[in-house]
Amino acid sequence: MLRIAVCVSGGGTNLQAIIDAIADGRIADTEIVRVISNKKDAYALERAAKAGIEAVAVARTDYPDKQSFQDALLGAVDEAAPDLVVLAGFLVVLPEKMVAKYRKRIINIHPSLIPSFCGDGFYGLRVHEAALARGVKVTGATVHFVDEGTDTGPIIKQKAVEIFDGDTPEVLQKRVMEQAEWKILPETINEIAAGKIKIG
Ligand code: GAR
Repeated sequence: MLRIAVCVSGGGTNLQAIIDAIADGRIADTEIVRVISNKKDAYALERAAKAGIEAVAVARTDYPDKQSFQDALLGAVDEAAPDLVVLAGFLVVLPEKMVAKYRKRIINIHPSLIPSFCGDGFYGLRVHEAALARGVKVTGATVHFVDEGTDTGPIIKQKAVEIFDGDTPEVLQKRVMEQAEWKILPETINEIAAGKIKIG
């Protein structure tokens, strides 16, 4: 059984995609042992509660400085003793200590075809705004291992999604989620659980 901890910051549709895929067997031999949010009001926490998954919020505002926040975050992960940490819309730069401790055991979903529209400042809707502003005709999503950089770790899976005339950032975000993110993230976890993708 692969034990996964899922880190979230917002709506949690990628978390939901994982929950649903475990429920209907598209992800086998996997258990979500904890959901960790850096936002107390993240809807993702409600999704976890509805699915009966233990969830905790570790908010920066509850800690006097960055160091103690980062230590608490790592502590929340360590306590769950996961085999794999999944960043599913987690908009916090990970502590280097955590990256080192969980090397090749942390994966992230990013809503573009890396190396396009990634790195510092590219998250959520901003990624789709940038893709539309540049006028690219194809975008997509990427699952990658997390290293010390922002979106620089080894790429595991990508899926392309077409852009159409008249797309707004919101419309494009929804298409990228439906056609790419909600598919390749569960697929990757299933392949890790099956030993087809090696983790650290
Ligand atoms: C998703 O589109 C995810 O790819 C993106 O944030 C959104 C979270 O949505 N992540 C990043 O931009 C990371 N750089 P969700 O909370 O509904 O899963």
